Amino acid sequence: MSELQTPYYLIDLAKLRVNMERIQYLREHSGAKCLLALKCFATWSAFDFMRPFMDGTTSSSLFELRLGHEEFGKETHAYSVGWADHEIDEALGYSHKIIFNSLGQLDRFGAKAAERGITMGLRLNPRFSTSGFDLADPARPFSRLGEWDLPRLESALDRISGVMIHYNCENGDFDLFDAQLSRIEAEFGGFLEKLDWVSLGGGIHFTGDGYPRDRLAARLKAFQQKFGVQLFLEPGEASITKSSSLEVSVLDVIHNGKDVAIVDSSIEAHMLDLLIYRETAKLPQDGNHAYQIAGKTCLAGDIFGEGRFPAPLQIGDQISIADAAGYTMVKKNWFNGVGMPSIAIRDEDGTIREVRRFSYDDYKSSLS
Ligand SMILES: Cc1ncc(COP(=O)(O)O)c(C=O)c1O
Repeated sequence: MSELQTPYYLIDLAKLRVNMERIQYLREHSGAKCLLALKCFATWSAFDFMRPFMDGTTSSSLFELRLGHEEFGKETHAYSVGWADHEIDEALGYSHKIIFNSLGQLDRFGAKAAERGITMGLRLNPRFSTSGFDLADPARPFSRLGEWDLPRLESALDRISGVMIHYNCENGDFDLFDAQLSRIEAEFGGFLEKLDWVSLGGGIHFTGDGYPRDRLAARLKAFQQKFGVQLFLEPGEASITKSSSLEVSVLDVIHNGKDVAIVDSSIEAHMLDLLIYRETAKLPQDGNHAYQIAGKTCLAGDIFGEGRFPAPLQIGDQISIADAAGYTMVKKNWFNGVGMPSIAIRDEDGTIREVRRFSYDDYKSSLS
């Protein structure tokens, strides 16, 4: 273990390389381009490492867009559920492509994008998805995420050259992906062949162990040939999965019918996504000593989950919570004023360096 003060997020570059090389492989074998989805992971200290393996970034807001432009470079896709009048000029300054969520936004801002020669697209909602969570289902009833009516989509053809279709959610099942892409081909094929590019969004878990990357590559290649388009994927979770941890220390151990270890972090503040989706954190599971690992905020349900350890936990013991890169650092917050985890990187030679430490001044300046 390192000398760093816990809590801290630890990005392990040797582990990140595994995902990056799988992304590189897919790009080479499919011809599809891969853009990092900054909504999932925007820890820019890792971008120098990731850049050679990816084609650029995609964004969900002006700030993500700017960060992608400033810190990652390469191709920058701009998407937002709703651009504001005061954002659009700046946004266009950073964009290679701008993807509007609705025909209304295209009508409002398309002329400005055209004036600056920026390629435009629309979000297409195929009205189905692989999401098991209503909260994250882009095809949920009355979804505001994209256009699905073919005549409306076709009315934009004089202005757009592509579409973004995000409908996968941690989908590790290639056959399901294949079947749903065939459904998109059947329902929207006549429209797609009039386009130059199609983004299939994120949510395809193709960097996972055992995922049939060759089959995916062949399927993507065939799609591109059939419709004469350049495909893009927008991997968020697939880019950083299993690469990082949240390192915490035990502050207290209490016995309330259960052994509970309170740590110097908080699921609500530092791994909020898990709480929102009612999932538990990935805790050590080796040993005969079971503990509930709980956060230090006043929220009664600030509980990371159940862990098992080889020996009774002692105050000061360090616990490593796995898979802590995706939708964690981008969602961390100052609830209870709990100290924000630092961000550290483990280089491939094993050296750990702290790249960001947060202080009281950061907490104070997040409010006024
Ligand atoms: C439009 C779009 N692209 C990409 C992503 C990244 O998805 P994931 O992190 O599951 O790969 C998302 C996630 O919500 C998204 O909405």
